[in-house]
Amino acid sequence: MAGFDEKTTREGGTPETRGKMIAVCSAKGGIGRTILSVNLAVSLSKRNHSVAVLDGDFQFGDVSLAMDLQHTFTIKEAMDGIGSLDEHRLEDYLSVHGSGVRVLPAPERPEYADILTKEAVSKMADFLLMKHDFVVCDTGAGLNEQTLNLVEKADEILVVATLEMAAMKNTKLLLETLDILGLRDKVRVVLNRANMESVIKAEDGARILGEEAPIYIPNDFQTCSRSLNMGSPFVIANAKSDIAKAVFKMAELIASNKAGEGIGKKKENPLSLFPWKRKKGGISK
Ligand SMILES: Nc1ncnc2c1ncn2[C@@H]1O[C@H](COP(=O)(O)OP(=O)(O)OP(=O)(O)O)[C@@H](O)[C@H]1O
Ligand SMILES: [Mg+2]
Repeated sequence: MAGFDEKTTREGGTPETRGKMIAVCSAKGGIGRTILSVNLAVSLSKRNHSVAVLDGDFQFGDVSLAMDLQHTFTIKEAMDGIGSLDEHRLEDYLSVHGSGVRVLPAPERPEYADILTKEAVSKMADFLLMKHDFVVCDTGAGLNEQTLNLVEKADEILVVATLEMAAMKNTKLLLETLDILGLRDKVRVVLNRANMESVIKAEDGARILGEEAPIYIPNDFQTCSRSLNMGSPFVIANAKSDIAKAVFKMAELIASNKAGEGIGKKKENPLSLFPWKRKKGGISK
């Protein structure tokens, strides 16, 4: 794409200079993982970081589409050459967006997802982390084995939720599962479409999910659908919109946190999802 400077990747990559991996996941599909992954990646790149996106929605990933990339290779071809792959060779499989963000696209066909082993994906994520400051990883909905592998590797897990009842219920379950797996400390909850019409208000959503300070992303369907359908990230095409400002803020928050530092604050006694179960004063166990 013309009009943007292509940033170069970082050279080398010792463990001390390993980049930071951000996994973007959600309990349900269609909740905004891809749009937020793409716009977060571009926002980080605008802050002069070198950024790669790993499309970890291996069956139906659409990061390439969301960034209007005509890719030559996908992770499937990288997998075919895994024996001789290293951090330098992997770069040849990436597609470069005009913003400088490099993308390892998901396979062309859903059945190719089956040939990707967790070990190979981990290796590729490590290679990307050696060359980039940030690796943003979009994932498939829910917690399948591949997504679990990616969230375990990640330094930060963004759990994206909306205020619909089913999304709340399933996000609560996802957070509980991540807690059981010992991963809850890496989680930041992102309440997407936070000001949409809903029975559950944004503050209640945060309390139900037991998150003291979630990241709020406003509802803006026009900007989002244009961004996805034109393959033109809104943080470039519509940088002054409220939603772009919210994503810039999220990028700032993430960039200012060093890998592994304490992340989202968990509430001790989350609010029950069901009003009839709430105790007086609003909190129930
Ligand atoms: N903040 C928002 N405001 C309005 N619409 C939004 C917002 N975030 C996402 N959307 C819309 O929600 C839909 C789903 O977005 P997206 O594809 O990013 O979700 P996803 O979680 O990646 O979905 P999938 O499970 O299909 O991969 C799109 O139509 C998008 O435009
Ligand atoms: Mg998606």
